[in-house]
Amino acid sequence: MTKQTNLGGTFAIPGTSISLYRMGYGAMQLAGPEVWGPPRDVDAAIAVLREAIAAGVNHIDTSDYYGPHVTNQIIKTALHPYPKDLVIVTKLGARRGEDKSWLHALSRQELIDGVHDNLRNLSVERLDVVNLRVGGIMEPTEGSIAEPLTVLDELKREGLIGYIGLSNVTPRQLQEAQKITEIVCIQNFYNVARRGDDAFIDILAKKGIVYVPFFPLGGFTPLQSSELDGVAASLKATPMQVALAWLLQRSPNILLIPGTSSTSHLRENLAAAALELPPHAIAQLNAIAAGVKAAGQSGH
Ligand SMILES: NC(=O)c1ccc[n+]([C@@H]2O[C@H](COP(=O)([O-])OP(=O)(O)OC[C@H]3O[C@@H](n4cnc5c(N)ncnc54)[C@H](OP(=O)(O)O)[C@@H]3O)[C@@H](O)[C@H]2O)c1
Repeated sequence: MTKQTNLGGTFAIPGTSISLYRMGYGAMQLAGPEVWGPPRDVDAAIAVLREAIAAGVNHIDTSDYYGPHVTNQIIKTALHPYPKDLVIVTKLGARRGEDKSWLHALSRQELIDGVHDNLRNLSVERLDVVNLRVGGIMEPTEGSIAEPLTVLDELKREGLIGYIGLSNVTPRQLQEAQKITEIVCIQNFYNVARRGDDAFIDILAKKGIVYVPFFPLGGFTPLQSSELDGVAASLKATPMQVALAWLLQRSPNILLIPGTSSTSHLRENLAAAALELPPHAIAQLNAIAAGVKAAGQSGH
């Protein structure tokens, strides 16, 4: 695949040497069903990663608990030795139960083991960026994150981690975290239909902190809305492309990591960076979340 889009331009993370194209790739879909075990077609998973890199993507989001271990091992097989400008962002703070459940793994030993698992499975000597993943499955829960974050900061000082981010956190938890260590990115659940972090995103933009929405396309329940369909039809684009373009225009500190196991969806998603949304389309799309909120309030 040739570099056919500008991938949304770049965002240089203040105080670091990292500059990322705004359109990246989330690797969770590369593991098997329910993010467990190997994918049905490993070669297809490898092809998706190689195509992303060939298209210019330099930001891949992953975790060693996808698979578990499988996704990182596929990344290594597909891309190692890694391109110089590639930034692999991983997460610590969770593990998988034998019943495929998602459990916390925030103890000192679990975090240390998690760093070493990632280093080994990705075959690197230092992890570029590690997000500390706390809270519930979909939403943050208030409470101190000082203990696990202090462990990550120690691992950073040892040289095993380049930069630290947070996932599934509140503004208050960010405030606490910034007293402990530098935070370069936040990864929370956000998309055109789920806008609980609107105010948080604006705060982060002012601070120069990257915001990476997880489930940008709705995740396990992909976005569906007549507004998305209508705007997509009027622009000769797909609804998923419109959802991604909406995120790109929402704030310059938003970087995208849409997940897919298919090269055709990958191409479609990357091409969304070139899609311009006219003001009336943005107004229509802004109505989606307002509708979701109103429906929630009236109990539907
Ligand atoms: N921090 C956290 O707690 C957390 C939680 C969840 C995810 N994440 C990260 O966020 C990344 C993105 O999340 P995600 O992959 O779960 O959800 P997503 O990007 O919102 O959506 C992925 C789903 O959409 C489908 N899809 C992708 N492109 C499409 C297209 N152009 N047309 C139609 N369907 C399309 C995929 O299926 P196909 O495979 O068939 O394309 C998959 O089912 C993950 O890869 C992961 O790295 C982080």
